[in-house]
Amino acid sequence: MLVSSKIYLKDAYKKGYAFPHFNYWDSNSIRAEIAAAEELNLPIILAWAEKHSPEIGMDDALALGKYFGSKANVPVMLHLDHGVSPDLVKKAVDSGFTSVMIDASDKDFEENVSTTKDIVEYAHKRGVVVEAEIGHVGTNSTEDNSKYTEVDAAEKFATETGVDSMAVSIGTSHGTYKTGTPKLNFDRLQELRKSVDIPLVLHGGSSSGDDNLRKAAELGITKVNIYTDLANASLHASEVQKYDTEMDLAFAQRKAIKDLCEHYYDVFETNKYEYRV
Ligand code: 13P
Ligand code: ZN
Repeated sequence: MLVSSKIYLKDAYKKGYAFPHFNYWDSNSIRAEIAAAEELNLPIILAWAEKHSPEIGMDDALALGKYFGSKANVPVMLHLDHGVSPDLVKKAVDSGFTSVMIDASDKDFEENVSTTKDIVEYAHKRGVVVEAEIGHVGTNSTEDNSKYTEVDAAEKFATETGVDSMAVSIGTSHGTYKTGTPKLNFDRLQELRKSVDIPLVLHGGSSSGDDNLRKAAELGITKVNIYTDLANASLHASEVQKYDTEMDLAFAQRKAIKDLCEHYYDVFETNKYEYRV
């Protein structure tokens, strides 16, 4: 069933665990991710990112999300990830996403506030929750232009925008790291958790190190975004052996994605969530 993320993230916020946010890009990936959530009987956040438009457009992704999400027997939150264009974000609100991210984190503070505020007003009138980003989580494959989240700016941003959850930058980056795992700034995370009274989100979860991610969840991160590791699991499943049929390959890819999703549920200690259906 499709649900809003509000009460789920608040529960995680109170109890020191996180929900995984899994990006999906086709029917194989969404079915694998839901299968993991059903196996564990835990809610799931399924996300389509605007930057994945070349692979699958919003209308098709939404149709997949609504179809598989409605028939799942766990709560499913359908999330627009990294909505950059305000028009697209508003369309996502109108068409059935249960939460949206407006990402103006590469703009200056005032523009990020005004763009986010506009979306918050629009979405809240329609019962949809909003995530925004303060500081900036960059990308490993390009020049990493990450910018740590400042505590004062985060506090001001939360108050001025009325946003429901906030993505913060504490050392992760999108994609695969060039060397090892990143060093996360847990002191900054704790300061943010103390100063900001809304759920915090961590982007760039892939390959960030299980211990790092578990600790981040314990210290105040309520949602961790994972994409690259899932895409790579699917890719590597196709490379480890030669398959006799397309169907064997599809099964192997789905199993690889599902196993990894279950692993991340374990890392984030999502089983601290109590209100099972
Ligand atoms: P990764 O691809 O690094 O897991 O980041 C995912 C993400 O942040 C999606 O918004
Ligand atoms: Zn992200």
